[in-house]
Amino acid sequence: KKVVLAYSGGLDTSAIIPWLKETYDNCEIVAFCADVGQGEAELEGLHEKAIASGASECHIVDLKEELVADYIYPTIATGAIYEGTYLLGTSMARPIIAKAQVEVARKVGADAVCHGCTGKGNDQVRFEGCFAALAPDLTVIAPWREWSMVSREDLLDYLAERNIKTTASATKIYSRDANAWHISHEGGELEDPWNEPSKEVWTMTVAPEDAPDEPEYVSVEMEAGRITKVNGQSYTPYGALMALNEIAGAHGVGRIDITENRLVGMKSRGCYETPGGTVMFAALRAIEELVLDKTSREWREQVGAKMAHLVYDGRWFTPLCESLLGASQPLANLLNGEVVLKLYKGQAQAVKKRSPNSLYSEEFATFGEDEVYNQKDAEGFIRLYSLASRIRALNVK
Ligand code: ARG
Ligand code: SIN
Repeated sequence: KKVVLAYSGGLDTSAIIPWLKETYDNCEIVAFCADVGQGEAELEGLHEKAIASGASECHIVDLKEELVADYIYPTIATGAIYEGTYLLGTSMARPIIAKAQVEVARKVGADAVCHGCTGKGNDQVRFEGCFAALAPDLTVIAPWREWSMVSREDLLDYLAERNIKTTASATKIYSRDANAWHISHEGGELEDPWNEPSKEVWTMTVAPEDAPDEPEYVSVEMEAGRITKVNGQSYTPYGALMALNEIAGAHGVGRIDITENRLVGMKSRGCYETPGGTVMFAALRAIEELVLDKTSREWREQVGAKMAHLVYDGRWFTPLCESLLGASQPLANLLNGEVVLKLYKGQAQAVKKRSPNSLYSEEFATFGEDEVYNQKDAEGFIRLYSLASRIRALNVK
């Protein structure tokens, strides 16, 4: 047996390596790590660590640009937001990680894939939903659903008994998941929704109360719903996100704290930081205000609501998801222009916007004379528009 393990270098996936070997007849383990912009610190020394834990190879695959260009931009153009606030940071990254893991499995001729998700969360469903769509022949191994270890102490003991070194400590409090778009924090004191998150929770943003007392303006330019320039400077998709993370994070923009419905039925409490993404969302919606007519806007909102569930629920590689993304493209293509946002104490307000596709016209909106709108036409329109109401009222008499 040859297994490709989605490996992070953390305590859980470090313990999984010896466990797999013991449980599956000395199988060969290939460690796979997706670089989705979680940062240098997590990737440093990962290769050596994987080998030291017993993996035969370690593949680190750079997915940063592809994540932003092919997963994040198409999704945010639909306006997908889960349960009113969650910008889907972990959810959007799972499909690309699963896809890259399958590619490694094919390359090394593996017959199984393994992940370190617990049996209580969304991520197991997302990974395995993608595996099912892309590589139904591969066996999936989910150690957390099989072994009897339940705590960090158990894992530390397990590694100590086998003389495998780890830098992990017994007191890591939060369960975190980071990529270029966001970081999530769950567990510890956050499990009680009556606890305000402590200062130590947050890592990508400063507290709004500690943010500068002066607002900062940032200009964002977009083409077809993709951010091309920040403050006049051209960037790649990933580069633009990094630039905005830094600028917005310094003003405490993009923090949320929600109790959400997991796909597996339970509620969980999470604190998420999406500084650059929050600015991108605000910029896209500002241009949308200028260019989408009423029915297009209404339809985009419906697609966004549906997309949020598809992405959260791990249904990226489905014909339905592909259909919605394809159908959204003509509207996304209209999202051209520039937005200036004012960042101040946790808020990002679009204060200036312009677009070559704008339907807004000062000339037509004015209360003065104009060429396209004759106020007398409104009378006939309202009579027909309210016809059913009129007839209903007449029936009552
Ligand atoms: N609750 C969020 C979601 O379902 C974040 C999950 C974080 N995942 C993790 N392995 N720490 O998308
Ligand atoms: C996990 O349970 O592995 C993380 C949380 C989640 O997937 O929802």
